[in-house]
Amino acid sequence: MRIPKHVENKLRQLADEGTTLNCYIYDTAPMREKIAFLSDIMPAGVDIYYAMKANPHAAFLAAAREADAKGIEIASLGEAEKAVATGFSAAQLIYTGPGKTEEELRWGVTQGIRTIHIESLTEAHRLNAICAAAGKTQDILLRINADFDIHEAQTTFSGGSKKFGIDEEKLAHALPLIAALPGLNFRGLHVYAASGVLNVQDLLKNCELVFGMARNIETTYPDMHCDIIDFGGGFGIDYLETGHDFDPQAWAHGLKRLIDAYDFNGRSFFLELGRYLAADSGWFCTEIIDIKESRGKKQVVCAGGINHFRRPAALAINHPLAIVRRQKSALFPEQEAVRKESVYFGGPLCTGADKLANDVYVEAADVGDIAVFGYAGAYGLSMSNIEFLSHARPAEIVLD
Ligand SMILES: Cc1ncc(COP(=O)(O)O)c(C=O)c1O
Repeated sequence: MRIPKHVENKLRQLADEGTTLNCYIYDTAPMREKIAFLSDIMPAGVDIYYAMKANPHAAFLAAAREADAKGIEIASLGEAEKAVATGFSAAQLIYTGPGKTEEELRWGVTQGIRTIHIESLTEAHRLNAICAAAGKTQDILLRINADFDIHEAQTTFSGGSKKFGIDEEKLAHALPLIAALPGLNFRGLHVYAASGVLNVQDLLKNCELVFGMARNIETTYPDMHCDIIDFGGGFGIDYLETGHDFDPQAWAHGLKRLIDAYDFNGRSFFLELGRYLAADSGWFCTEIIDIKESRGKKQVVCAGGINHFRRPAALAINHPLAIVRRQKSALFPEQEAVRKESVYFGGPLCTGADKLANDVYVEAADVGDIAVFGYAGAYGLSMSNIEFLSHARPAEIVLD
């Protein structure tokens, strides 16, 4: 991985200030460019929402706003409040996720958010009761757990037994019940197949499957029209730097072909993208505190571990890594170092699970150097075990 020069310069400046370096550096220019690019290439009717679970930092929300994203996909009242604080209106919020509480649903209804995505019949009834009490109706999408899964994806959200949405085979039972609830205004479907997908054809297959479902529903229930189809997120990032990035242009062309084939022009299509938009706008930068050989393996211990950057351990993948060399003098003559070898990176936590990188080749690293992990803009700090061992929270530094 090459660290952009301005990021490295900032790092060096911070490191020279003298305190142990352990921070995220954000530059949201890539995110803004990606939103603008996607908005340009997508077929008419596609709306891009930022799935703020990827990174809820105000700079990322501001980037989504500046780049004219249609809105924000939220998964909690806390996310809703952050989005509104950045200047998004409630009408720009769409709300997905299992286990929405009564308070959260009530907030959505009273504030007038764009759509609430129903995950179960219990949730449908809970929302209906809230609508009745508030004297309002709410636009909803029905989230479906399709009988389909993308085997190569990092994480799947449909297929098999899932807490997400209503199983596809239960629709014949669920749809008439939902249609009969007066507070809910059925607007369409939400089917999010998988996260971290690099193969465009796999994601397009999900789109085709959803279009087929929408067609069946409209044929069986002429009063139910799927004006909106939400594909969730899922555009992948090439964490392993294989050179095979997700190709959004191919996805856009494929989607357009499907829209034409199904005669679905004029409908709305939501994308709730997190990882693809945010990942390359952030770097986790942590100082090397110790290096030691232990029974044939070299262990590099950094200031921050999975308390600050849990994603590599959680998903058992290595993020791209670069070392910023600092030429610090050794504390004693035999102090160990890394030279052209594969080593293990971890943090200061009292668990063997505290791994930042496994068996990763490094040209050279010394105590005092900075390990910089790329693609850390998405699912970085917010997904980490921040309270474990009560280390100081890493700074989040935003570059202009
Ligand atoms: C409902 C929902 N939408 C969107 C996303 C964002 O997915 P991604 O980061 O893969 O684009 C997620 C991620 O978990 C999700 O659960």
